[in-house]
Amino acid sequence: MKEAINPPKSSTPKAFFLSLILLSLFYLIFLSLQSKHPNSGHRTITINGLKIRPGYTSYDTYIHHQLHKTTNPKLRKIWTSRDWDRKIRVFTRFFSQLKQEKLLTNSSKALCVGARVGQEVEALKRVGVNDSIGLDLVPYPPIVIKGDFHHQPFDDKTFDFEFSNVFDHALYPDKFVGEIERTLKPGGICVLHVAISRRADKYSANDLYSIEPLKKLFNGSDLVRSRKVDGFGLDTEVAFENLQVLVLDRKWSVHCPILLHCNPVDYGPSSFKFFNSWLHVEGFDDVLIGVASKFVVNP
Ligand SMILES: C[S@@+](CC[C@H](N)C(=O)[O-])C[C@H]1O[C@@H](n2cnc3c(N)ncnc32)[C@H](O)[C@@H]1O
Ligand SMILES: *[C@@H]1O[C@H](CO)[C@@H](O)[C@H](O)[C@H]1NC(C)=O
Ligand SMILES: *[C@@H]1O[C@H](CO)[C@@H](O)[C@H](O)[C@H]1NC(C)=O
Ligand SMILES: *[C@@H]1O[C@H](CO)[C@@H](O)[C@H](O)[C@H]1NC(C)=O
Repeated sequence: MKEAINPPKSSTPKAFFLSLILLSLFYLIFLSLQSKHPNSGHRTITINGLKIRPGYTSYDTYIHHQLHKTTNPKLRKIWTSRDWDRKIRVFTRFFSQLKQEKLLTNSSKALCVGARVGQEVEALKRVGVNDSIGLDLVPYPPIVIKGDFHHQPFDDKTFDFEFSNVFDHALYPDKFVGEIERTLKPGGICVLHVAISRRADKYSANDLYSIEPLKKLFNGSDLVRSRKVDGFGLDTEVAFENLQVLVLDRKWSVHCPILLHCNPVDYGPSSFKFFNSWLHVEGFDDVLIGVASKFVVNP
């Protein structure tokens, strides 16, 4: 029995136990370093139709991977020269359409999440939405400021409108959406461009297979609409409206339990109405005959 558990001749039992202790020590140090990380402990969500890509061993690995492309000087040169006007033109079309739908107005305070060099911010300004800013890990002053979309550097209820085409870059999609809902004002609009029927690029952190996961994640919002688009490899545009929650003082809520929330909806020009009472107005018959005679074709 004793022989069986004896370590190889080259090392003594003492050395064997010493290395065992050392190994466990290293393992403990490794664990404690891991838990120092701000995002460890955040459990990745599991929702049908949304897959978080494996392979990001830590939050730093994820950020490092994201920065790899965004900080590339040659690419930044291309994005700000050759690509600049081309992308602004496409974004301008999208935002003009949203203005027509009244989801965006000139007076909206707008944020573009994951804006890189900010062509979408520039497009918003060009369609008249002057109060627009972008957010990205890498700033591009003055139109894009530095920040992580998992922890937006803005106060609650700051924006009327948020646009993003980088949902697929979110390692924690619930945080990505939670931060948008937090920084949107009640009634604010969020428009996302996402890839549903094709896989996004190698810098993505998740893959989306339908818009159902988005509806689950936006649990403080209503889906306004979704449509197919052609936006730089992203094929679906969804629009959400942040729900209005109004907590009344107790003394008021007792007397006024019903709150009406009115949305301005444009139903187009109002239709012509004819009122019976007009028939009783003196001289109305003559007006009618006079007008009608213009349309009578003699046989
Ligand atoms: C595919 S690019 C999109 C750039 C831009 N929206 C466009 O259409 O030209 C993705 C961008 O998301 C940024 N990004 C990735 N992870 C981020 C994070 N956690 N917080 C903020 N930005 C992030 C990257 O730096 C990169 O600029
Ligand atoms: C919004 O701004 C654009 C561009 O400056 C301008 O052409 C348009 O008339 C403005 N729209 C309204 C409703 O003020
Ligand atoms: C928005 O900016 C444009 C260009 O700088 C300017 O002509 C326009 O008057 C501004 N609109 C508002 C509402 O400030
Ligand atoms: C909405 O989702 C977030 C995160 O995905 C969660 O923390 C929160 O509890 C949910 N709220 C409701 C009302 O379900």
